[in-house]
Amino acid sequence: MAKICVITSGKGGVGKTTAAAAIGAGLAASGVKTILVDLDLGLRNLDVSLGLETQVFYHIGDVVRGIVPAGDALVTAERYPNLALLAAAQTVKAEWFTEESLRRLLAELSVLAEIILIDCPAGIGEYFRSVIPLAGEGIVLTAPVVSAVRDADKVLHLLEEAGVRKRSIIVNGVRPELVRKGAMMKPEEITDVLGAELLGVIPDDDAVISLANEGRPVYGGSSPAAAAYGRIVRRLLGESVPIPPIRKKKGWFSRY
Ligand SMILES: Nc1ncnc2c1ncn2[C@@H]1O[C@H](COP(=O)(O)OP(=O)(O)OP(=O)(O)O)[C@@H](O)[C@H]1O
Ligand SMILES: [Mg+2]
Repeated sequence: MAKICVITSGKGGVGKTTAAAAIGAGLAASGVKTILVDLDLGLRNLDVSLGLETQVFYHIGDVVRGIVPAGDALVTAERYPNLALLAAAQTVKAEWFTEESLRRLLAELSVLAEIILIDCPAGIGEYFRSVIPLAGEGIVLTAPVVSAVRDADKVLHLLEEAGVRKRSIIVNGVRPELVRKGAMMKPEEITDVLGAELLGVIPDDDAVISLANEGRPVYGGSSPAAAAYGRIVRRLLGESVPIPPIRKKKGWFSRY
């Protein structure tokens, strides 16, 4: 049975979909059979992040309605061995997505992979509430700003209440010059506030934007953000890759 991990946040636009694509691509490249599920219903971003949008034929709505088995709705591509994607439905009827239909969906997917990563919509939506009791792990993305951290705290509590045992955070979009000036929260301060394990720190990196435009995940290559996601993947694989302290010099992020 696959591990089920939700990738979530309190605030929107803090990098969940980017993280889901990067971590999914990274785990798959490391030989872990991975399924990415786009649960941001009504929108559809994860296929675009992976450059797979032209290959989506079926979507999650078709599976929960019983039109196709989950395995037949998965998008795979030669350039991503071990990775499959279940795309979001762009039109959504609330009655399709019951706790029961989502439970059946995840049970079906669980026998097809070692890990299922679910890209969630921002905040505490209805579908999110249905899915979290089924997840063993939750990764919460936050920006290093007070309002995002406060909202991340709410989501972490919700995960805890739902019985999600392993909860960690990724601090995304860190700008060292602002941290140095004291104008941006330090990742360590954020983990202190949230009381959750720090899975990784991702710098604000223009390469993320270029890769997004090219439909490529932020994994591999030499950009600081890709390197940071590489370390997150190794941590998820159980390697001990420490998060180094902030160094007050150029190139700080190369150490994350
Ligand atoms: N580390 C980063 N550096 C620079 N840009 C980033 C970084 N991470 C994400 N972005 C950009 O920020 C935007 C939002 O990212 P993304 O779509 O992954 O967020 P999200 O949390 O999934 O948003 P939503 O809540 O709308 O689903 C995208 O344009 C993405 O390319
Ligand atoms: Mg998203």
